Amino acid sequence: MASRYDEVYRRSLGDPIGFWAEAAEAIDWERRWDIVRDDSRPPFTRWFVGGMVNTCHNALDRHVAGGRADQVALIYDSPVTATVARYTYRELRDLVALAAGALRALGVGRGDRVLIYLPMIPEAAVAMLACARLGAIHSVVFGGFAPAELAKRMDDARPKLIVSASCGIEVGRVIPYKPLLDEAIRLAHAKPERCLIKQRPQAAAAMTPGLDVDWDAALAAAKPTECVAVAATDPLYIIYTSGTTGVPKGVVRDNGGHLVALAWSMPNVYGVQPGEAWWAASDVGWVVGHSYIVYAPLFHGCTSVLYEGKPVGTPDAGAFWRVIAEHGVVAQFTAPTAFRALKREDPKGEHIGRHDLARFRTLFLAGERADPDTVQWAERVLNRPVLDHWWQTETGWPMAANCVGLGMLPVKHGSPTKPVPGYRIQVVDEQGKDMAAGQIGSIVVKLPLPPGSLPTLWHNDEGFKASYLADFPGFYKTADAGYLDADGYLYVMGRTDDIINVAGHRLSTGAMEEVLSGHRDVAECAVIGVANALKGQVPLGFVVLKAGVNRASEEIAREVVGLVREKIGPVASFRTATVVARLPKTRSGKILRGTMARIADGKPYTTPATIDDPAILDEIAASLATVGYPGKG
Ligand code: COA
Ligand code: AMP
Repeated sequence: MASRYDEVYRRSLGDPIGFWAEAAEAIDWERRWDIVRDDSRPPFTRWFVGGMVNTCHNALDRHVAGGRADQVALIYDSPVTATVARYTYRELRDLVALAAGALRALGVGRGDRVLIYLPMIPEAAVAMLACARLGAIHSVVFGGFAPAELAKRMDDARPKLIVSASCGIEVGRVIPYKPLLDEAIRLAHAKPERCLIKQRPQAAAAMTPGLDVDWDAALAAAKPTECVAVAATDPLYIIYTSGTTGVPKGVVRDNGGHLVALAWSMPNVYGVQPGEAWWAASDVGWVVGHSYIVYAPLFHGCTSVLYEGKPVGTPDAGAFWRVIAEHGVVAQFTAPTAFRALKREDPKGEHIGRHDLARFRTLFLAGERADPDTVQWAERVLNRPVLDHWWQTETGWPMAANCVGLGMLPVKHGSPTKPVPGYRIQVVDEQGKDMAAGQIGSIVVKLPLPPGSLPTLWHNDEGFKASYLADFPGFYKTADAGYLDADGYLYVMGRTDDIINVAGHRLSTGAMEEVLSGHRDVAECAVIGVANALKGQVPLGFVVLKAGVNRASEEIAREVVGLVREKIGPVASFRTATVVARLPKTRSGKILRGTMARIADGKPYTTPATIDDPAILDEIAASLATVGYPGKG
């Protein structure tokens, strides 16, 4: 089939209003919009202004009414608890309606924030959808973050209620969540009124009278609640993501634009049809989990798999193939790091032959650069298209992809292919001028952004402008660098800021530096991302001690490693730090992090002309050698 991509892409840019109005027909509106796109308050754009809609209705109720009541909506597959549970659209609707009733009984209503800190259990999806049902705004926080990070999000979102569980399970380890939550509440200035706690059999949480409410008991006592129509422009959720400082950015998602964009993406970007089973192997704490575990597949009437396990170790490198075969998954979405883990454990892909993958059509990768080695390995062992695509928490859905639903384009390894309809992507120099094909520059998107992308940051319009719109007027700055080739294929090479990507998780080295600086013996520090064969990148810290400190360097290095785990969480994968006498800097005092990273990665580097004292680079190399670099990655 010839690809319709070019024609559809051109139309999306030439007639965005007509294009998205047509896409919006896939959604049930309580009241249709007055204006498809409102640009009257630049640089802010609002989609489907005047429209009234309910996200949960579009995910569940309308499918129950429309003939999918007995189709499975959600499959909870948990190798760590040896559980597989299936929920039809009717069952999930009923459960969500009860949960919404429980939330309402606890005082949650339209516009209230609910923070969700849950492992990958069905209650995570239920709680999100219950908020959507009430018009409340959820903010899901990934379980691998430490209490201090949770507290920062509480202080910004000011949730009325927190939904959590007694524990998460990380392969063989039970991780009690309640002590983490209690500590976060102690640290936060904005305390919740109540916490709704799911007690899991693997660990019982101690409940605080007057604060904690048992999830099962609350649902048992609840009355089912109907969907509350909200403005299309009302926030559906806030998701916090790493910025360049220790303060996370609260990305806002609206209801209407999100519904339209995500519903459009399922058939067109992913080529998945209603009734088919789809699996995003991520976590509800990340944007991929929001968009493609919970919302998009349900908007589109698919069956979505919610997986509580890992690619390897639960129990082995055949776990992905078992899930795909058992649930008839037609397409999977995961991060390249998961496939690097599989490649390492099962290099010949021997586990694959033990499962019936007849229905499996496509593998999608995103979240970090898909290295050609891993992509080619996956293609070889799966004998199916392996499609890299590129997006960010901010956009909520892909900006560049090989839109299989429109007809697949030739794959070029190392490229997520072409801009997705709706996104006009350019590569520009520091002055905002277009770069020639093949030349690396900043990747930007011409404003206005399509529906589904962030309208602003939570209660922070100025921060939104400063972070994304100020550097390149008229464009959204992605903070990724890369190039477009002569055929219009995009190549994403890395970030232009201090964000690193660890096992597909986005983390700020600036935030880690703030933690290191907090150690009483540390005068100065730098954290860089270094190459890692499994996780893509891992952080590595350098600390300069205050004058007069004469404790053992190893001891201090161990302490700062512990401090990052305590303050940011295990997800940071911060395992190595080294003490140095001084940091390499330019004469104007800028730390040469890029040069340090090249030394750690064993790559050739030039001594910057502006360096203060070139001898420091040798000291850095010597110090790196003591912790196994170069060569460790
Ligand atoms: N709750 C509590 N702790 C968590 C957690 C959670 N939800 N998720 C991760 N952690 C912990 C891990 O247990 C680990 O702790 P440790 O330092 O005590 O070992 C630490 O955080 C780092 O986790 P991770 O980076 O996931 O490393 P890993 O070694 O456990 O697993 C992979 C490596 C590649 C198997 C794993 O990262 C993976 O499956 N990645 C898939 C990619 C993905 O889901 N990306 C999301 C965006 S699409
Ligand atoms: P997150 O907001 O966590 O989804 O992280 C977004 C960042 O991950 C992007 O800005 C990129 O740096 C990186 N990223 C995501 N997908 C890709 C991809 N397909 N190729 C290269 N980098 C990617």
